[in-house]
Amino acid sequence: HREATKIKTIEKIKIGKLSCDTWYYSPYPKGYHNIEYLYICEFCLSFYLTQQEMDRHSQKCLYKHPPGEEIYRDEDNKVSMFEVDGKKNKVYGENLAYLAKLFLDHKTLWRDMDPFIFYVLCENDEEGSHIVGYFSKEKSQDDGKQRTPEGQNLSCILVLPCHQRKGYGKFLISFSYQLSIIEGKLGTPERPLSDLGKASYLSWWTQRIIEYLNQMIEEDKDFSLKSLSQTTGIIEKDILWTLEQKKLIKYYQGDIIICTDQKKLQQIYDECGKREFKIHSQDIHWVPHK
Ligand code: COA
Ligand code: NA
Repeated sequence: HREATKIKTIEKIKIGKLSCDTWYYSPYPKGYHNIEYLYICEFCLSFYLTQQEMDRHSQKCLYKHPPGEEIYRDEDNKVSMFEVDGKKNKVYGENLAYLAKLFLDHKTLWRDMDPFIFYVLCENDEEGSHIVGYFSKEKSQDDGKQRTPEGQNLSCILVLPCHQRKGYGKFLISFSYQLSIIEGKLGTPERPLSDLGKASYLSWWTQRIIEYLNQMIEEDKDFSLKSLSQTTGIIEKDILWTLEQKKLIKYYQGDIIICTDQKKLQQIYDECGKREFKIHSQDIHWVPHK
């Protein structure tokens, strides 16, 4: 916990064409502290103290996208997802962890990178694929077992501050559940969640749950917590927590009663903000890691 209490030593970053203030301390190597600006290559994430060094790097850098497979592309919204294996791209993984720590105050990101895969969201233009955010996920081990509890489908999530509140966080959360659905598993994020992480999940979970409830009401169908979980990919514990947070649940003589007043549901749905842009799951080119 010592790092969480440290004062930040890098005021701002410039990444590609974008600049933003940092939020927290990040343990970049010695020599990269107590500075106003850190210049970061938006493709390979290497970092520099001056614009001149950055420019020199850019002339040589061979990357126009993260160093991995493009597993999803949306031509209309001009975004892609890249999958980067932490074992094959140790430096990239480390640089991503340094970058993420600037916006996270509690996570211990300093674990072995080998078991992690990074799913990097990029905006595309004629110059290349520009990083917007990412989430990391722990691979299954060689014996097929995960080191983390079953169903953990996201370890760390970040959207760069200049891209926040545009729906990208929800897009990444959706993507993590889409991968779980391909794996035939239910999913849940690693704990603890930051306040922003919690707000984003609560909003995403609420919208998925209400969409399901509305559909069941329209089709006049019975539903259960189990069917709700199977359809959305959200574990029952997270569904119950969400329903409690939104005061949509009552416990009566050992039964769980979900309030399904459609007007109230719509109001709660709208308060959760916009829906993220849709993921076309048939366009995800991905096979689970064995
Ligand atoms: N205040 C209040 N509600 C917020 C919020 C904020 N600052 N940020 C997100 N939310 C809620 C809103 O309901 C929002 O929907 P809306 O913008 O339509 O109102 C919803 O969460 C999701 O917003 P979205 O635009 O999809 O998320 P994002 O792109 O801003 O990314 C994070 C969310 C968590 C990834 C981003 O805030 C982040 O990277 N934070 C720093 C790192 C971090 O804390 N990661 C989580 C670790 S567990
Ligand atoms: Na946000």
